[in-house]
Amino acid sequence: MRRKLVAGNWKMNGSIPFVDSFSQELMAEMGGDETSDVALFVPSLFLCSASEMFSGSRIVVGAQNVSEHNDGAYTGEVSASMLSGVGCCWVLIGHSERRSLFSESDSDVLRKTTAALNNGLNVILCVGETLEERESGEVAAVITRQVDAVLSELSLDVLCNITIAYEPVWAIGTGKTASPDQAQEVHSLIRDVVAKKSASLSESMRILYGGSVKPDNAVEIFSKPDVDGGLIGGASLSSADFAAIIKAAS
Ligand code: PGA
Repeated sequence: MRRKLVAGNWKMNGSIPFVDSFSQELMAEMGGDETSDVALFVPSLFLCSASEMFSGSRIVVGAQNVSEHNDGAYTGEVSASMLSGVGCCWVLIGHSERRSLFSESDSDVLRKTTAALNNGLNVILCVGETLEERESGEVAAVITRQVDAVLSELSLDVLCNITIAYEPVWAIGTGKTASPDQAQEVHSLIRDVVAKKSASLSESMRILYGGSVKPDNAVEIFSKPDVDGGLIGGASLSSADFAAIIKAAS
């Protein structure tokens, strides 16, 4: 039985005072329920204070990007060892905003994932098709390519630290969600792709859905057999909404 994971992605939003108030509100609203895992991906500058605020709670803190390099002359970059040094345990890699706005390719995603895993971080690997790709019948090809680009190059002992997030690009921040059946169809395809690498990895790997998940649609999406939780953007900036989505995963 896979334990559900609800992960919030603040993107480039928030401030130190917001981390402070949000963390107190979220912990109060979540109460004692411990039936799912919770992670929050905040801008790198807030990792230290978020790790401190959530220490002792079941909420783990993650970064939204990582360098493929360990150290050196890479102005503006943050390495995986720097992230783990400030209490960060997770990193998002391959988010569609990074792929489209910052031109990250499948090979960049592989190199970043390798650097993160080598430094003991857990990775949420994001994959998803654009509307154009969906309308031209390319969903399976795109998703298989994005997943395989990473899985085919890494060994099983590190792959167990990867969670996949299926995020149809057309559903991110648009208010349009994939229907629970559309999500299930792609999640099941991803599980089949992972099974080609290893049947037991495919059984244990968590696959999250992301794209306009809100308190009023989370229960139905999370009820699908291959949906193991969600990656939540906009709604993770409201402690009440994020807490309600965490409850929906219970
Ligand atoms: P959204 O974002 O929930 O605002 O659609 C999801 C994401 O980008 O991870």
